[in-house]
Amino acid sequence: MIMKKKDFTRRKFIATVSAGSVAAVMSKVIPKFRNITIVNNNTRKLAILGGSPVAPEKVWPKWPYVDERVVEEIVKTTRSGIWCRIQSPTGTVPTFEKEFANLIGSKLSVCTGSGTQALSTCVEALGIGPGDEVITSPYTDPGTISSILTSRALPVMADLDPEYYQLDPDDVEKRITENTKAIMPVHMGGQSCNMERIMAIAKKHNLRVIEDAAQAHLAEYQGKKVGTIGDLGCFSFQSSKTIACGEGGAIIGNDEELMDKCFTVQNHGTNHKGRTERIGPKYRMNEFEGAILLGQLPGVKERFALRNKNAAYLTSRLKDFPGLLPQKLYEGTVSGSFYLYMMSYHKENFNNASRNNFLKALEAEGISLSTYLPNGLHKEPWIDHILTLKVYQKMYSPSRLKRYREELSLPNCDKVCDKMAMIWASGPLLGTQSDMDDVINAVMKVYDNRDELNSI
Ligand SMILES: Cc1ncc(COP(=O)(O)O)c(C=O)c1O
Repeated sequence: MIMKKKDFTRRKFIATVSAGSVAAVMSKVIPKFRNITIVNNNTRKLAILGGSPVAPEKVWPKWPYVDERVVEEIVKTTRSGIWCRIQSPTGTVPTFEKEFANLIGSKLSVCTGSGTQALSTCVEALGIGPGDEVITSPYTDPGTISSILTSRALPVMADLDPEYYQLDPDDVEKRITENTKAIMPVHMGGQSCNMERIMAIAKKHNLRVIEDAAQAHLAEYQGKKVGTIGDLGCFSFQSSKTIACGEGGAIIGNDEELMDKCFTVQNHGTNHKGRTERIGPKYRMNEFEGAILLGQLPGVKERFALRNKNAAYLTSRLKDFPGLLPQKLYEGTVSGSFYLYMMSYHKENFNNASRNNFLKALEAEGISLSTYLPNGLHKEPWIDHILTLKVYQKMYSPSRLKRYREELSLPNCDKVCDKMAMIWASGPLLGTQSDMDDVINAVMKVYDNRDELNSI
C-alpha cells in the first residue's frame, strides 16, 4: 500500500478513545507500518514531557554473544598452555582461520590482533608506502585511515553516495592520480559498497582493492560474500562486531602468494618457514581470542539471518515514512551484516525539530539511536598532524599537499553525518518482532507529537 502524507496524522482521532474499543478500528485505518497500541492520553503524551514511555526499561539481547561453548573454549585454551599461535599448528587461531575462510568462501585467512592491523598488514603486503596514495571513505572508523598512515602512504578521502552512506564511485575515480595504488572501500554498516563500479574503476586504472569489511561479516553482494570481491578483504572482531572476541581481525584472500606475504608481515616479517625476510610488525592474534571466536561460530549463520529478517522488517515498517529513511542498498545486495541499522533523520518532517531533540524524545520513550560519527574523518585534526610530519613533507610535493587540503570538502559526507540516526544492531537486531515494533512505535509517537519537539 502506498502511503500518502496525510495518513500520518490520522492517528490523532483515537487520542482519547479507550484501549479496548479501538483495536479493531486501528487495524483498518492505521497504515501497516504504524501498528500502534498507544491509545490513552498518558501514553500518547511524550515521555519526555511526563507521559508513559513506549518501551519502559527496554532490554535488548545482550552483546557480545556468550554461551557455555565460548566459556568452555577459553577454559580449554587456558588449561592447554597453548596461548600463542606459533606454539601449535592446530591451536585455536590456525583452526579459526580455516573455519572463517570456509564460512566466507575464500581460500585462505590470516588472523591479526584487530581489524586495523588486518588492513595495515594488507597495505604493507601490497608494497604500498611513502609517496603512494590510497583512496578511501571519510565515513569510517579511524582504523581505516590509520592502516594507510602506518605505511606512510596518503589516505585520500572521496565523498559519499548520500543515501547509501558508501563511497561514491564517481568521486573515487576523480581523485585517482599517478600515485594512486589502491582503493579501500568501506562497507559501511555491514552492507556492500557499489562493488561492481568500484571493481570496474580499479580494473581500468590498474589499482588494487582492499575491502574494509570490518563491519560486514557474511554480507553478500552479487552472489559473493563481501570481502572476497577485491584483492583482499579485512574484518574486525572487536567486541561490538557481529562476530567478536574483544579485539581481533582477519584478512581473507585467494591469492596464495599475497596471503603468504600477509602472514609474513603480521608475523614480524617472519614467514611460514620461520625465516625473517622483510619489514613487519607483530600483529598476531592470541589463542584466547581464537578460542572465543571458535566458541562463537556455532549459530553465527542463524544470528546473521535473524538480523537480516529484523532489518527487512524495520525497513518495511518505515516504507513511505518520510521522516526517517533507512540506508539504501545497492542493486545486487543479497544480504547485509547489519552491524548497524542506519537511517537519516529528516527534520523537515518533524516540524524542523533538531535531530538532538528528536533523539532525546525517542530516548525517553525507551529507544536509543546513535548519531555514529559527529564528523567525517576529513574534518578531524589528524590531517594537520600528518601533513606537517617530515616524512609526508619529504615524500609528497608541496603542491600535492596543498591540493590535498583543498580537496577536503566532502559535502555529502557532511550531510550524512548531520542526519544519521542509527541502531548499534549486533544485539538489538537479534530481538523479536515486538522489539522492532517498539522502535517504530516510539518513532511514530514522537512523529505524532512533532509540534512539541521544539519546546523540549
Ligand atoms: C569500518 C571499520 N574499519 C576498520 C575498523 C577497525 O577495526 P578494529 O577496531 O578491530 O581495529 C572498524 C572498527 O570499528 C570499522 O568499523
